[in-house]
Amino acid sequence: MGRVEALRLILLYVHLIGFALLLGGAIAQHLSGKIRINAAMLWGSVVQLLTGIGLSAPLRDGDEPAPAKLVTKLVLALLIFVMVFFSRKRAEVNRGHFLAIVGLTLVTAAVAVFWR
Ligand code: HEM
Repeated sequence: MGRVEALRLILLYVHLIGFALLLGGAIAQHLSGKIRINAAMLWGSVVQLLTGIGLSAPLRDGDEPAPAKLVTKLVLALLIFVMVFFSRKRAEVNRGHFLAIVGLTLVTAAVAVFWR
């Protein structure tokens, strides 16, 4: 395996852990009954942006994801980050705001998987 491919797989691995933090953090928080932004969600949204941008480099020699897919994911992930970051200190956030974060996360994962 080449070094570039090893780097791509490491980035993808961390990207999936970031996804787990963001979605898992949100679900666990929702189940707790107190709707607020927790550290797992905050760090998950940051990890997704950073590793996603890294994965958007041409690491696959040919066979790269469509630029429109990457831009779509970037816009969605920026929206999620903004929605998480600016309400991170609130003791509680609106239910609609919280569920929108979960929904946008699910849409972004769907874009990742189904946009080929
Ligand atoms: C909350 C935000 C995000 C979620 C939930 C998410 C989810 C995922 C998932 C589940 C995969 C694995 C798909 C597969 O390998 O088949 C993936 C891969 C990938 N993601 Fe993300 N992602 C997010 C943000 C981003 C951002 C911001 C970018 C770049 C601008 C990005 C770029 C990529 C790239 C390049 C891959 C490699 C696989 C491919 O696109 O074919 N992601 N993402």
